[in-house]
Amino acid sequence: MPDQPMPPAMEPGQSSPDVLLEVRRLSTVFAVAHRTVRAVDDVSFTVHRGETLALVGESGSGKSVTALSIMRLVAPPGRIVSGSIAFEGCDLLALPERRMQAVRGARIALVFQEPLSALNPVFTVGDQIAEAVLVHKQASRREARTRAVALLDAVRIPDPAGTARAYPHQLSGGMRQRVLIAMALCCRPALVIADEPTTALDVTIQAEILDLLREMKAAYQLSLLLITHDLGVVAEMADRVLVMYAGRIVEEAPIHTVFAAPAHPYTQGLLASVRGHTEGRHLPGIDGTVPDLAALPPGCAFSPRCPSRIPRCEREAPEESRLGAGQAVRCHLYPPGGSSPTSTILQRPSDSGPEDR
Ligand SMILES: Nc1ncnc2c1ncn2[C@@H]1O[C@H](COP(=O)(O)OP(=O)(O)OP(=O)(O)O)[C@@H](O)[C@H]1O
Ligand code: SF4
Ligand SMILES: [Mg+2]
Repeated sequence: MPDQPMPPAMEPGQSSPDVLLEVRRLSTVFAVAHRTVRAVDDVSFTVHRGETLALVGESGSGKSVTALSIMRLVAPPGRIVSGSIAFEGCDLLALPERRMQAVRGARIALVFQEPLSALNPVFTVGDQIAEAVLVHKQASRREARTRAVALLDAVRIPDPAGTARAYPHQLSGGMRQRVLIAMALCCRPALVIADEPTTALDVTIQAEILDLLREMKAAYQLSLLLITHDLGVVAEMADRVLVMYAGRIVEEAPIHTVFAAPAHPYTQGLLASVRGHTEGRHLPGIDGTVPDLAALPPGCAFSPRCPSRIPRCEREAPEESRLGAGQAVRCHLYPPGGSSPTSTILQRPSDSGPEDR
C-alpha cells in the first residue's frame, strides 16, 4: 500500500464502490517529426472490482499505450494530453511522481508479453522478486527472500527455493512468465494489467499461464485488465470486452454479448475471421490494414475497410450509442446516445441491412 493516504477523489461520490479504475476521455499522443500520432484517442472505460476486462484489437491499435498511460509510463515523445484516470479514489494523472511510484507495482502491476526483456539478466529471479518486495514494503533482506520463495511456490513453480537461485536465462519461457506473475503479486495489487501475457509462449504453456492468472485472480481478489489480440483467450478469460481500433474504443460489451451479437462491423469482422480459422476454412479476416494513426481518414477511422459503410461514415466520426445490457458501440448504424442499461439490445445492421441516415 502507498505509505501515505491517497488524495480525495476527483469527483467524490461519482463512481460506485465496485469501480476500481475509471478512465475518462484519455488521449495520449506521440509527436514525431512534425506528425502527431493519436495512439489513444478519447478513451473511456471502467474496470470493476474482481472482473476481467479484455482489451482487444489489431496490432498498433493503442492497447499497450493505454496500459502504459494508466501506469504513467509513456516515454517521450509520447505524452498524455488529456483525460483522467481515477483509481482507488484518486486521479493518477494528478499524483506527484513519488506517489505514483507507490501505486505502480504495489496497487497496479503490469505483466509484459516478453518476460525475458522484463527481467534483469544479471540477477537471480529470487533477488529480483525480493527487490520488488523491498521497494514497497518494510522488510529485512532475509524476509524479502523468504517472501520471494513463497511467491514462487504460490505461482506453482516446482522447487521454488532452487528456482529463486536461478538466473532468467536458465528458465523456460513459461517459468519466466510465472516469475513475472509472482513479482506482480508481491505487494498484493488490486489491479493487474497483463499485456499479451501468453503471446510469446507455446500453446500448452499458454493454457497453463491463463489457468494460473485465473487462479491468482481468485486467490488475490484481483481485477485483471487483459490485453490480447487473441479472441480465444478473451472467450476463456474475460467478463467484459473492449474493442479498440485506431486508438479508440469502438465497442464495449459483456463477453456473451460480444460473441453472440457483436454490434460494430470491426468486431463482427474480427469474430468472423477467428471462426473461419477454427472451422478450418481460410478466411482473409478484415480487408486492409490498420490506418496510419497520424493520418486518419475523416469520419470513422474504420470506413476504408468497412463492408457496412454508408456515405456519412466518411464525413463524420460516430458518437457512442448505448445499446443496453452493458453494450455500447461507436458506429453510424446505431442511433447516438441510447437506451437505458436494462433495455433490450437494438436490432443489428446484419438483421436490418445498412441504411443511410
Ligand atoms: N515509441 C513510440 N513512438 C512513436 N509512436 C509510437 C510509439 N509507441 C507507440 N506508438 C504509436 O502508437 C500506436 C499504438 O501502439 P501500441 O503499442 O499501443 O499498439 P498495440 O495495440 O499494443 O499493438 P500490438 O498488438 O502490436 O502490441 C502505434 O501504432 C504507433 O503509431
Ligand atoms: S461508422 Fe460507418 S464505416 Fe464506421 S464502422 Fe460504422 S458503418 Fe462502418
Ligand atoms: Mg502492444
